[in-house]
Amino acid sequence: MENIVFYFSGTGNSLRVAKTLIQELGSGEIVSMAKPGSYSLIKQYDTIGFVHPVYYWGLPKRVTEFIENIALGNNKGAYYYSIATYGGFVGNAVYQLHELLRKRHGVKLGYGQKLRMFANYVVAYDMNERVDEITKKSNEKLVPIINSIKKRKRSNVNKLTRIFESMNEKFVSEVSNMDKDFSVNSSCTGCGICEKVCPVKNIEMVNNKIQYRHHCEQCVACIQFCPQKAINYKNITQNRGRYTNPEINYRELSGYNR
Ligand SMILES: Cc1cc2nc3c(=O)[nH]c(=O)nc-3n(C[C@H](O)[C@H](O)[C@H](O)COP(=O)(O)O)c2cc1C
Ligand code: SF4
Ligand code: SF4
Repeated sequence: MENIVFYFSGTGNSLRVAKTLIQELGSGEIVSMAKPGSYSLIKQYDTIGFVHPVYYWGLPKRVTEFIENIALGNNKGAYYYSIATYGGFVGNAVYQLHELLRKRHGVKLGYGQKLRMFANYVVAYDMNERVDEITKKSNEKLVPIINSIKKRKRSNVNKLTRIFESMNEKFVSEVSNMDKDFSVNSSCTGCGICEKVCPVKNIEMVNNKIQYRHHCEQCVACIQFCPQKAINYKNITQNRGRYTNPEINYRELSGYNR
């Protein structure tokens, strides 16, 4: 049986879910949706999964582009499922993915599920201190979701309201340049971790200083993984905590993203 899981992840939550899925399904590939260009499925798969965070009540821009451009090959009959990891409110993210598959590829999302995990958007709020408790709960909630996937369960996906769609559209239209509001302070040691964890290669080290390339996804990995807390958004994040998934370190994340 062939399984493939596509993932997008800034701080490791979605990668953690993708890894667990493949472990529990027994075997399969984990492929990043962050890579540019169009991905073609060559082999035939029994299950095809998409795991991603929710951004502004919808899909991250890169996830939409990836699914729009994927070539499914001889896989129209596979079991398609998705898991949207989110921090507070999932909005239309699952519905958006369902519609992309249907309209672009004529394929039905068999099972679309949400999984509440740690809310990582440090630009919008401080980091909750109950990391262990929240992580434990989300790991527990993942178990029945994976069991449903193993049993090829089907679910209906409903759209919420148009307002969430328009907020996501606005975010997507502005996100590439949102790195203009990032700054790096003098505590930067030039370690290069931010460059390594950026899933879309939007950071370059030039003369030991980081430069943003303005195709940002706002995944906040650079802010969250910087060991010096040297990267900030406007004057908002300086005194806020930092979060990365406790089971995924920067080496693993950047290894998968490569
Ligand atoms: C730019 C941005 C926007 C977000 N918007 C939402 C949202 O609309 N609703 C929500 O519940 N969580 C939102 N979150 C939280 C993430 O979806 C959540 O923490 C997710 O599990 C992070 O996954 P990752 O660690 O794989 O990147 C947002 C996070 C970021 C970075
Ligand atoms: S991760 Fe932080 S300390 Fe390291 S290069 Fe980036 S900004 Fe500098
Ligand atoms: S620059 Fe930072 S926020 Fe933007 S995509 Fe890269 S890691 Fe994510």
